Amino acid sequence: MQKKLWPAVAIAAAVSAAAHAEMPPPGLDFAPMSTVLNAFASAAAHRRAETLVNKMTIDEKLQFIHSEYAMSAVPGGGAGYIQGVPRLGIPDLNMVDSATGSGSTNQPSTTFPATLAVAASWDRALSWNFGKQIAIQLRQQGFGMGLGGGTNLAREPRGGRLFEYLGEDPVLAGEMLAERTDGTQSQKVIATIKHYMGNEQEHNRGGGNSQIDERTMRELYLLPFEIAARRAQPGSVMCSYNEVNGTYACENSHILNDVLKNDWHFEGQVQSDWGAAHSTAAAINAGLDEEEDVGSTVYLTPTLVKQAIANGSVSTARLDDMVERKLYVMIRTGVMDDPPKGGATIDFSAARAFTQSVEEQSMVLLKNASNQLPLSAGSLSRIAVIGGHADAAVLTGGGSGNTRDPVTGAFAGCGGLTFGTSTGCSWWTNPWLKLNTPIVSAIKALAPQATVTFAGNSDQQSPFAAYTQQQITQAATLAANSDVAIVVVAQPAGEDIGDLPSLGLANPTNQDALVEAVAAANPHTIVVVESGNPVLMPWKDSVSAIVEAWYPGEGGGNAIANVLFGKVNPSGKLPVTFPMRDQDTPTWGTNGAFAANPVYSEKLDMGYRWYDSQNITPMFEFGYGLSYTHFAYSGLSVQHLPGGLIDVSFNVRNDGRVAGAEVPQVYLGVPYQGEPPRRLVGWDKVGLNPGESRRVHVVVTQRMQSVWDTTSNRWRYVPGSSVYVGASSRDIRLQGHG
Ligand code: NOJ
Repeated sequence: MQKKLWPAVAIAAAVSAAAHAEMPPPGLDFAPMSTVLNAFASAAAHRRAETLVNKMTIDEKLQFIHSEYAMSAVPGGGAGYIQGVPRLGIPDLNMVDSATGSGSTNQPSTTFPATLAVAASWDRALSWNFGKQIAIQLRQQGFGMGLGGGTNLAREPRGGRLFEYLGEDPVLAGEMLAERTDGTQSQKVIATIKHYMGNEQEHNRGGGNSQIDERTMRELYLLPFEIAARRAQPGSVMCSYNEVNGTYACENSHILNDVLKNDWHFEGQVQSDWGAAHSTAAAINAGLDEEEDVGSTVYLTPTLVKQAIANGSVSTARLDDMVERKLYVMIRTGVMDDPPKGGATIDFSAARAFTQSVEEQSMVLLKNASNQLPLSAGSLSRIAVIGGHADAAVLTGGGSGNTRDPVTGAFAGCGGLTFGTSTGCSWWTNPWLKLNTPIVSAIKALAPQATVTFAGNSDQQSPFAAYTQQQITQAATLAANSDVAIVVVAQPAGEDIGDLPSLGLANPTNQDALVEAVAAANPHTIVVVESGNPVLMPWKDSVSAIVEAWYPGEGGGNAIANVLFGKVNPSGKLPVTFPMRDQDTPTWGTNGAFAANPVYSEKLDMGYRWYDSQNITPMFEFGYGLSYTHFAYSGLSVQHLPGGLIDVSFNVRNDGRVAGAEVPQVYLGVPYQGEPPRRLVGWDKVGLNPGESRRVHVVVTQRMQSVWDTTSNRWRYVPGSSVYVGASSRDIRLQGHG
């Protein structure tokens, strides 16, 4: 089912918001989706929650602010559990990780593509549906809360958890997260957004001190959270492990109380990351509402909180507020009156078809020399497929962002593969997913007349072991005797695996050599990349086509084959910059060492803004992605509307030969000191038949034309921005003035 879009309502809401004295929320789509209905529902939920709190005993309240942890003991194999109060009709609440599908440790689940892939689709409705489809499975498994809304920005391109996030731009990330959150909660599952905030690297993950100035926080790192919190009202915000400017995020009154609860009027609860609380009274008074413990040191236990109340360091009113927030969220999302029962039958084949469609919208065509792609099955008799376990599996992200129990196989043995066990095959650190339809068989199905031969690593080889010279030679020989060679390369990453030492392909270490050898043997070499991070491609000029497939999920084999053979016209655009070299990235410094306590000294110049402001040419820029057709842009008009809004409109025409979808992007150059040359303020994704043209409107709110003024500590509207309309952040097709 497609989500309804509300352009008229959204414009009206934005206009009326713009009329308020307070600077309105940013972006056209930031207005809550149905403001009036929400306000009524919200008030009623608050009244009911308050009534319940008044009936609860102190012990019942204390049980509501602390989740016991023992993974295997949590019902349904979830990550946390809050016991209900049956005498008051309050159900139990089970929570589970859900970045790319349910993280249940003992129930089968569908593996969806990485969330970074969803960001690469730039498709808001798809993100909404992604949230919805995962939530459907969570409910069927008995979970009323999904911890899947990761949105730390890709400041550190080597970040181990980038695949769980939504790229380097705060507006893209925020809008996609708002959609996902709304889709999740449409299924009566509470959505958590995380990790709030400044948690952009895995290095020193237990407590690094992220040092970020206020303007940079407001304009970049807080912004995706603000967009999602204001617009989609997630039930929960998860505070992160790190410190922010010297204070742990989960006891940082500035980010929790001042910004989240006061400035943004967030009415839900703040939950700690697992083990991220470090105090009782300090954390509670700073805004932490619920602790998720990891079985070791705990701070919001009944005993400690009772003591804090007894010695006056925590008020009973604050305890009531903590409990009320949780009950309010349960009521508003529907979990209170219709709790998930679990044990329902999951339609795995429908879910797999959905994952395939997500992947098909998310793949990014990076290079296509001489229209190498799409392949024409009829003209190929020998197809070589090489590397990346393409005969059996695809890669997923590791850690809690993984889907732990793929429906296609048991955990034991890396999701069903029979890799050697010497590497200690575990779902957490070695996240290969065996597919029903891996890339090789999907290609065979689309090219039944051709001989499709696989060479490279095998199931029996550790996925981290380097290709042997013999394997490389065999692959090159096969390529030399084939009409086309498709090489699959993969870059494993994940929570706790650590940040990548380099963006160069590392595991196996000699994948670059494999590509070079194959490309030297066959001029028609196509590389498919499975990664959750940007990847360096020293072989870029030697191959004829490159497709970024991210971690493609369990529909990945079919989706990749469909793009290669043109059954699907690729329409994804990069949500992260792919640099030429590690040294070009904003966080590399002199030698690439990770800072234990990162200073965000590049300020607003992060992601593409860094490359633009430093005049560094990336390999592939933010917003970039090719298609099998071509789009022409014309007729820019920039109209001023009441309330400081600008309506940027223009035509996009498909002037190629096949149907396709384009993502026209609107950037502003805001004339204010410290602002980057361009920042994304809006986009659309338009599907067009050959010869078809569409007038696209992107309405830019006053807030999107504003900067954070550190003197007055508020947003300041800066009129007169330059307006850029592009097919990427650098491929600017039209230019005007706001
Ligand atoms: C720690 C991770 O940082 C967080 O994202 C996850 O939700 C929890 N563990 C629970 O598994």
